[in-house]
Amino acid sequence: MAEKKQLRIATRNSGFIDPENIDSYIAAGGYLGLAKCLGEMTPDQVIETMKASGIRGRGGAGFPTGVKWGFASKYASDDKYVVCNADEGDPGAFMDRAILEGDPHSVLEAMAIGAYAIGGNKGTIYIRAEYPMAIERLKIAIKQAEEKGVIGKNIMGTDFSFDLDIKYGAGAFVCGEETALINSMEGNRGEPYTKPPFPAEAGYWDKPTIVNNVETLASIPAIIVKGAEWFNGIGTETSKGTKVFALAGKINNVGLIEVPMGITLQEVIMEVGGGVRDGKEFKAVQTGGPSGGALTYKDLDVKIDYESLVACQSMMGSGGMIVMDQDDCMVSIAKFFVEFTMEETCGKCTPCRIGSKRIYEALDKITMGQGSLEDIEKLKQMSNAIKDTALCGLGQTMPNPVLSTMRVFEDEYTAHVVDKKCPAGVCSDLLEFVVVDDKCVGCTLCKRVCPVDCISGNAKEIHVIDQAACIKCGACLDKCKFDAIIKQ
Ligand SMILES: Cc1cc2nc3c(=O)[nH]c(=O)nc-3n(C[C@H](O)[C@H](O)[C@H](O)COP(=O)(O)O)c2cc1C
Ligand code: SF4
Ligand code: SF4
Ligand code: SF4
Repeated sequence: MAEKKQLRIATRNSGFIDPENIDSYIAAGGYLGLAKCLGEMTPDQVIETMKASGIRGRGGAGFPTGVKWGFASKYASDDKYVVCNADEGDPGAFMDRAILEGDPHSVLEAMAIGAYAIGGNKGTIYIRAEYPMAIERLKIAIKQAEEKGVIGKNIMGTDFSFDLDIKYGAGAFVCGEETALINSMEGNRGEPYTKPPFPAEAGYWDKPTIVNNVETLASIPAIIVKGAEWFNGIGTETSKGTKVFALAGKINNVGLIEVPMGITLQEVIMEVGGGVRDGKEFKAVQTGGPSGGALTYKDLDVKIDYESLVACQSMMGSGGMIVMDQDDCMVSIAKFFVEFTMEETCGKCTPCRIGSKRIYEALDKITMGQGSLEDIEKLKQMSNAIKDTALCGLGQTMPNPVLSTMRVFEDEYTAHVVDKKCPAGVCSDLLEFVVVDDKCVGCTLCKRVCPVDCISGNAKEIHVIDQAACIKCGACLDKCKFDAIIKQ
């Protein structure tokens, strides 16, 4: 059932071919797309095919790939670049890594197709250095592709030549943003710059450059071979093809899935993902990683496509999907994501550099029980101001987890600041561990595990916790076999 809901295009070869053997890729139809482009199609026809397929960038922004290629093709230049963005910085996301480890040639083939389409001659794969296996397999793939004559000089006996190299990122999230990535590739600080000019006009070394995501690229050879209509027939009106997601959090089937656009969140979480772990209640799902937002049970019937997710104040992002249950505190979740972006801000512009810190501080105050209704109002104001004024996508989307959790879980924020309670029982400063008198049998187990000796009571007597000394570690609750300790 769940398997039937999946459709593999970008991951079509992963797990089925030997990624270290080019012949294995060729036997699965590999490099046929490039051969078709070079033998039967003009560069313009390749671009028109991309446009007609409706494929949009899978790196987050969802920009139409054919349109981007069309822009780059219009600029005359001695050198033009195709850059593969394999920086993949979203916490918990590993779609691109899996593709590069399982099917590196599909990305190389697509880069060559892209170069042919825009009149390019050079390509670079920008990959995070923390992906050693993907890097190793890419190196092997490039070497084998050069030996076979599908990369390098006079590819397949034509006058089209395309050289490829690899550059390494050092794990900064912002370096996945295309202008920061270009700065980093040129040896500069990994900071974004204002557009225009867009990379398609003046990118790497100021030459026309197309930057494409790994998953976007991996789908392209299949589109060329099977045709634009085939791809365009999958998905919704505005979002074509499939999307790879990394399912994580409180879900039974964690891991990568590839599903057609237009599938509902309900189908993904409850069927493909096998539902919420341990029979607990579904509370929310975060799509779009740290830049996205939380969706609740009210949104479960939403069809997954770029526009529908934005309409629910979340986003597709690169494909992280984190499921939360009744035990997750939404204020803490928002704080977790803001802490991530606060640490990853490049510091170039004030709204993001200072604003992320101020938002984090306000959330921290709320989770410690020191917040007020005024803080909630300030959080909204700061979030909206940062969205409007930050220079790049990192800052512009940083407040999304705050705004979206406030929108759907306002009562949880209010409980923290007015009642000084954390309804999910997560924020330790708002919790008390207490012994339920009529359940305690005086077995002394809790007393023996307490690391700060704050439980008193003799054997066979009701035990008592000294609230002032308790550090809320939860060890006693885990140890009690009689459910006599509760968190409230
Ligand atoms: C903070 C930030 C991080 C990003 N990280 C990535 C990334 O890791 N991989 C990626 O492909 N795109 C990332 N992007 C999007 C890129 O800027 C760019 O839109 C994308 O690589 C274009 O490829 P596509 O059109 O195939 O999606 C990021 C954007 C922002 C604002
Ligand atoms: S928004 Fe943040 S990450 Fe982007 S340029 Fe400004 S400081 Fe840097
Ligand atoms: S472990 Fe439970 S039953 Fe035993 S003394 Fe502690 S609270 Fe009472
Ligand atoms: S929560 Fe930890 S510190 Fe507090 S009473 Fe239980 S064991 Fe002791």
